[in-house]
Amino acid sequence: MKALITVLIFTITAIFAKEPIEPIPKSIKYNKQKAQLGKVLFFDPNLSADRKVSCASCHSPEHGGADPRPVSMGVHGKKGNVNAPTVYNSYFNFRQFWNGRAKDLKEQAKGPLHNPVEMNMNREKIEKYLKNNEYYKEMFKRIYHKEPNYEDTLDAIVEFEKALITPNSKFDRYLRGETKLSPLEKKGYKLFKTLGCITCHNGINIGGNSFQKMGVVFPYKREKNTPDRFAITHKKEDELVFKVPTLRNIALTAPYFHDGSAKTLKDAIKMMAYHNLGFKLSKDEIEALVAFLKTLTGEKPKILR
Ligand code: HEC
Ligand code: HEC
Repeated sequence: MKALITVLIFTITAIFAKEPIEPIPKSIKYNKQKAQLGKVLFFDPNLSADRKVSCASCHSPEHGGADPRPVSMGVHGKKGNVNAPTVYNSYFNFRQFWNGRAKDLKEQAKGPLHNPVEMNMNREKIEKYLKNNEYYKEMFKRIYHKEPNYEDTLDAIVEFEKALITPNSKFDRYLRGETKLSPLEKKGYKLFKTLGCITCHNGINIGGNSFQKMGVVFPYKREKNTPDRFAITHKKEDELVFKVPTLRNIALTAPYFHDGSAKTLKDAIKMMAYHNLGFKLSKDEIEALVAFLKTLTGEKPKILR
């Protein structure tokens, strides 16, 4: 029996290993009640010092869970120094933030709540606000059997973020054999593999599973103060090294790169091919890659519909 299971697992692994990209599961387990509470918290600007900035201010559902501004704006109009990545499918990332400084979503959520140029709050202020709010008092009691508190606030936000998956993109349906790609999309996918994009953008999130340098072949001009791996390790080779961003829903999340320097998907593809692979792409190649990347747009998360 044990041997049979081993063989089965091996075969299943081998089947999926054929494609370097895995489809997103149609659903994942999360606590629905907590996620609904997390949703209210995610959209609540009262969780910021000037009561104007919510998580959704910088992670807009209308914009693929990312920010259309090159860099985000926090409380009192203060500007940050990096582009806000999407929160969609962030559950599948191996670490959080551009430089991976948070090990998971719970650790991540503490960041913006405390960041002086984002929400600029602290545990006491958050708890004070929630404990004085009838809705939250009732919901925390019902779900956590406790008064509103900081730890459970983070927990609810994380449950909501688990619900932010975008399954059933055209490409996922193609991988499952449910639909065909157009000739142009197919050409784009082939280029994505043969040019070598796939060496960094692979797995379930087509990224989100390794740290890589921006400017492997031709150096990238550094913007000041960007949160790269160097900021954590202080090793020279970690300068301009970032978590490879997910390419899921990439057509919705312009502008691109940690500094928001690429305005369009075409620009981003051109820059990637040049800086990280050393190629100048032809117009046709760019067009095909754009067509392929557009097949990575998934369904809007159910919880937001
Ligand atoms: C003022 C804008 C702003 C607000 C408000 C904000 N974020 Fe972010 N978020 C960002 C930026 C910018 C980054 C990238 C920062 C970095 O990597 O250094 C980010 C990163 C993230 C990431 C990591 C994604 C990844 O791929 O690494 C998650 C998850 C996230 N935010 C969730 C939240 C949640 C939850 C809240 C509310 C508690 C929130 N954000 C509030 C701007 C914001
Ligand atoms: C050596 C690893 C590597 C290779 C090869 C690579 N990328 Fe990237 N890609 C990255 C990294 C790292 C970033 C983040 C760079 C930054 O923000 O400065 C990135 C960012 C991107 C972005 C912007 C994502 C966003 O949310 O801002 C796109 C689009 C992209 N890559 C597409 C491609 C395509 C298409 C190819 C092939 C032509 C490719 N990449 C090849 C590592 C790589």
